[in-house]
Amino acid sequence: MSDDLVRPERNLALELVRTTEAAALAGARFMGRGDKIAADQAAVDAMRAVLDGVEMDGIVVIGEGEKDEAPMLYNGEQIGNGQPPMTDIAVDPIDGTTLTAKGQAGAIAVIAVAERGTMFNPGPCVYMDKLAVGPEGAGIVDIRLPVERNLKALAKAKRVDVENLTAIVLDRPRHEPLINEIREAGARIRLISDGDVAGAIACAMPGSGVDILFGTGGTPEGVITAAALKSMGGDFQGKLWPRNDEERDAAIAEGYDLDAILGLDDMISTDNCFFAATGITTGDLLEGVKYTAAGITTQSLVMRGRSGTVRLIEAHHKPEKLRNMDAVEYDG
Ligand code: FBP
Repeated sequence: MSDDLVRPERNLALELVRTTEAAALAGARFMGRGDKIAADQAAVDAMRAVLDGVEMDGIVVIGEGEKDEAPMLYNGEQIGNGQPPMTDIAVDPIDGTTLTAKGQAGAIAVIAVAERGTMFNPGPCVYMDKLAVGPEGAGIVDIRLPVERNLKALAKAKRVDVENLTAIVLDRPRHEPLINEIREAGARIRLISDGDVAGAIACAMPGSGVDILFGTGGTPEGVITAAALKSMGGDFQGKLWPRNDEERDAAIAEGYDLDAILGLDDMISTDNCFFAATGITTGDLLEGVKYTAAGITTQSLVMRGRSGTVRLIEAHHKPEKLRNMDAVEYDG
């Protein structure tokens, strides 16, 4: 056995989880306060502060938007201490800002990192059609096929009846025909008001109670989801979905193929990728931030594409200690 095989590689995700913990702790202070902008800002600031200490030479490929509208974590921003490895970064300090503001289930803080030049940049395309499944559905489903055929194929692979499958779908008027198709096929549906990163990943988590995600959601969220499903061995397929002619023309002018089906390798073209997410409000995937007299508890998922290791990490934070060593406000 060569030295390279026996020497454990660095798992960047184990460092990145501190950034999602920080974002979740900061964002959770705003839970139920009705102010999604303030919640997001707190999470962005916290994630950015902790990212500075991560040893990497990173570029934000998917961030909070263009530099003029996002002072931090903007697309193209250089992150980390400038030392190798060179990486692409996708951040969503809160996926589920409205869920957080309303105190509803399923908001998470999330980050994905992959080696430089391997992360799909969605450019002007804000939305994509999505299909996500866990390992049993990989190689079985196809976003080009009718919903019923995919459900039948997945049911066969999971050795259950279609009636026992649960599809997860964002509750949006645009999904009315999709929802009807799923119902006609006989599957059950879990409608979520936001948060399709957690929804898609839950399809690959044993015991989550959901089997397949269908529908149109954010493209950034899609790329982040791909990093997780690569590690978990599930499948994720997407097709860009321009909202209007202007977006369609801009995408074509930039060379995007709007008919292409994007698979996991199109969205992250390496196994050398990392994913971390921390629950903000309790949902299908993760427990939210919990406060007790003894301190604050967070639950996070940490994944590494190359090894496929998925870790569930419960962390106990001591605000009185953090207050003295950290610029980020975690309580109060
Ligand atoms: P935010 O937290 O940024 O509001 O995103 C939440 C979300 O539900 C995503 O999970 C999803 O991909 C996207 O919004 C769907 O977009 P829309 O709300 O416009 O349908």
